[in-house]
Amino acid sequence: MRYIIANWKMNPQSMGEAETATRQIAEGIEDLKEVEVVVCPPFPFLQSLTPFTKANLSLGAQNAFWEGEGAFTGEVSPLLLKNLGCEYVILGHSERKKYLGETSEMTGKKLVAAAKSQLRVILCSENSEELAEILKGVDKQVGSSLIAVYEPSFAISSSGKSNAESPARAREQIDSMRKLLEETFGAAIPVLYGGSVDATNIKGFLDEAGADGALVGHASLDPAEFCSLVKEASLR
Ligand code: PGA
Repeated sequence: MRYIIANWKMNPQSMGEAETATRQIAEGIEDLKEVEVVVCPPFPFLQSLTPFTKANLSLGAQNAFWEGEGAFTGEVSPLLLKNLGCEYVILGHSERKKYLGETSEMTGKKLVAAAKSQLRVILCSENSEELAEILKGVDKQVGSSLIAVYEPSFAISSSGKSNAESPARAREQIDSMRKLLEETFGAAIPVLYGGSVDATNIKGFLDEAGADGALVGHASLDPAEFCSLVKEASLR
């Protein structure tokens, strides 16, 4: 199974646009096999997008808090997301570290809480050292909820310009993350690549770097481009 995750970040600006894009994605990936697509829109759109979910299309959130309920102004609990029909959550994204000061300890607490609420966690990190820091003290059973992402922050596109990591260097990092995950959880955990992935370079990350899929930001905002990217991933 391959995983292609659409990280829409703080886009689009209206519910109508989010619904149209999700409908186009759902139609465009209809016949594709062995690939799970996860659309991660801003929180306010999640509920209205649940009618579009189906066997190969799920919804994910872009963050969740580490507490289950209570006086935490502005936060969203994993259980609340699960109850909305969300199956996945992205945690530890480098933009949350850069702009909001999220630490590995905070990401680790969020990971444990999300797994407890039966969400699958798409866990981003820069390298295996940072991944090890996040996983410090995390129970073995969390492994079954985990999908890791090697996402070096320098490779994330800003202004639509591609700075993708080379597949060869991505392979080294992905292999070392796989080894750490296997040692920590005693099981094979999927590892994805993220950073300037598009329809033209996805194959290199799957075939040469050996990734189990990709976390896609900018290229997930155009449904036609995103669907051709997913098609590339499903041809294998
Ligand atoms: P990008 O973003 O594909 O636009 O580089 C990826 C991400 O930030 O998850």
